[in-house]
Amino acid sequence: MTATRIPTWTRRHLLDVDDLSRAELEAVLDLGVELRARRAAGELSDTLRGTAVGLAFYEPSTRTRVSFELAARELGATVTDLSVAGSSVAKGESLVDTLRTLERTGVRMIVLRHAASGAPYLAARSLERAAILNAGDGTHAHPTQALLDALTLREALGSLEGARIVVVGDAVHSRVARSDLHALVRLGASVVLSGPPAWVNPFAEWPGLSVVTDLDAGLAGADAVMALRVQRERAAGGGVPSITEYVARWGLTAERLDRACPGAWLMHPGPANEGVEITAELSGDPRSLIGRQVENGVPIRMAVLSLLTEEMDRW
Ligand code: CP
Repeated sequence: MTATRIPTWTRRHLLDVDDLSRAELEAVLDLGVELRARRAAGELSDTLRGTAVGLAFYEPSTRTRVSFELAARELGATVTDLSVAGSSVAKGESLVDTLRTLERTGVRMIVLRHAASGAPYLAARSLERAAILNAGDGTHAHPTQALLDALTLREALGSLEGARIVVVGDAVHSRVARSDLHALVRLGASVVLSGPPAWVNPFAEWPGLSVVTDLDAGLAGADAVMALRVQRERAAGGGVPSITEYVARWGLTAERLDRACPGAWLMHPGPANEGVEITAELSGDPRSLIGRQVENGVPIRMAVLSLLTEEMDRW
């Protein structure tokens, strides 16, 4: 069986969600749902048979790397992992030279995670044949995380239209936050961003978003709350006086979540600093969607790989 074709999809790369229309976003989520059902039923087709997919993770990852690898393999692709630390990157090879090398060995789709914001855009401009899938670039974007978060929320709430979603934490250093804000606003949600002023005030002019530093006030009427990871590796401790103050004012606890709507959902893109953004107890709370976020990683990544591979046939 062939997965449903999405007539609106004409993109060669997936670099962010910021330029995807609502129809495109909804269509990717719909395809993710379809592929999840086919996977569960053992009815996936070999959409990627004959396609070599390269994983180029210049930063650590568990969820994104593993789910991209499984998604590609289960759709019939050949997968090669660059294993950056053991590659010629360690001898000083540039990003572009490394990716061109992958391309010349026959890799047609490159899943790239890099510490430099914009690295996937450079890669997309520099390659002739390979498609680039951004698996997270610096503090800029993480499009497949936004797609799986949107799918998880859409299914939990029925629709994102008019839903009040509170996003709390280190937004200024978070690629997840930027991509999630684009996707959630475009899908009709009313998004509230909360956290220490230095981490959220830069978003004050963001279209469709309100910034409320007082989390306890912002939680009123929330249908879902997403905690962001405190990016210790990027924040270098800046932006808040201390972790103790962060936990006291913006850390999510079961009691604090009670300030949201009854039955409000909890999300976290992972990996979580338990005891900082959320308590360990809250991870296992029945209101937590964190496990479902991870589960939706493979089907969403199958969806984007399928769409890009169909599009590749047209270049
Ligand atoms: N959410 C996320 O990107 O997790 P990983 O770093 O484990 O891929």
